[in-house]
Amino acid sequence: MSKLNERKVAVVGCGFVGSASAFALMESGLFSEMVLIDVNKDKAEGEALDISHGLPFAKPMSIYAGDYKDAEDAAVVVVTAGAGQKPGETRLDLVKKNVGIFKSIIPEITKYNKDGILLIVANPVDILTSVAAKLSGFPENRVFGSGTVLDTARFKYLLGEHLDVDSRSVHAFIIGEHGDSEIAAWSSANVSGIPIHDFCEMRGHFEHEKSMKRIADDVKNSAYGIIEKKGATYYGIAMSVRRICEAIIRDEKSILPISSIQHGDFGIDGVALSMPAIVGRNGVEGSVPIKLNADEIAALQESGNTLKKVLDEAF
Ligand SMILES: NC(=O)c1ccc[n+]([C@@H]2O[C@H](COP(=O)([O-])OP(=O)(O)OC[C@H]3O[C@@H](n4cnc5c(N)ncnc54)[C@H](O)[C@@H]3O)[C@@H](O)[C@H]2O)c1
Repeated sequence: MSKLNERKVAVVGCGFVGSASAFALMESGLFSEMVLIDVNKDKAEGEALDISHGLPFAKPMSIYAGDYKDAEDAAVVVVTAGAGQKPGETRLDLVKKNVGIFKSIIPEITKYNKDGILLIVANPVDILTSVAAKLSGFPENRVFGSGTVLDTARFKYLLGEHLDVDSRSVHAFIIGEHGDSEIAAWSSANVSGIPIHDFCEMRGHFEHEKSMKRIADDVKNSAYGIIEKKGATYYGIAMSVRRICEAIIRDEKSILPISSIQHGDFGIDGVALSMPAIVGRNGVEGSVPIKLNADEIAALQESGNTLKKVLDEAF
């Protein structure tokens, strides 16, 4: 780790997601150096300049467009490069296109950077996390995806709205694939320790089945809805990237539903998907196998099987 600059981040891919993440990271004050890398050098340079012009209102740092060599000492490399979802396209449709892009960029990153953490954001994020782990040869704790951190934020936000309570007091996870087979882990959901159904009733909501279905569907479909209206999603994921980097750089050991390669929990093996995990300076520092009911376990296994099939076909 000694070769790394603990205050340096690299962002690969400076489209909607990369540039919004870079902006959120600038505002966070976590880093004093940030290199932006994109096959479109002008785009990286333009974003670096634009974001730098906010620095007099934030904390000093150096932000510049660069090449993979400039990422050699970055503590975290955030990978957002890839094609985005088109209206009507599923995340899994993107797989072939983005696996091809990863085959070119991951070896470029690891040629120079041997000790950093690879934070994968491009979609389909679970498949690309598995692919990045294989291509990089990094220990698995140092290669993980943003997974369902964003979906979980959407879940908490919607539950907060439904219950008229601060979303930060809601403890609930979306697990599995970041995509169509994701699972709302209702059986462990609570608001500050109060089981979710009890809290719902305290707030005057009694139609649990109907509300659960509506909220889980809204979480699952929110990316499609946003893409339909504005072409891409980027602010929510940018805040998720910032939150994950914060857990890493501050060695917080926070529990976040990042996507990492599974090794047997709930019978899932050899594929990356999201389960709550402890995230700190060493990356993924442990899994947190929350209690699930039989239906949730079956759905999680189904999600794992779906991902495994796609991974086997794509890589
Ligand atoms: N994980 C999540 O929760 C989440 C959320 C939103 C979007 N995404 C994903 O993030 C990715 C980026 O989305 P976007 O909206 O920013 O797309 P975008 O098209 O705006 O940006 C992609 C960028 O990647 C660059 N790029 C392409 N190939 C490259 C290469 N070989 N090397 C370096 N740069 C390259 C492009 O020039 C472009 O600037 C997509 O895969 C999208 O689905 C993930």
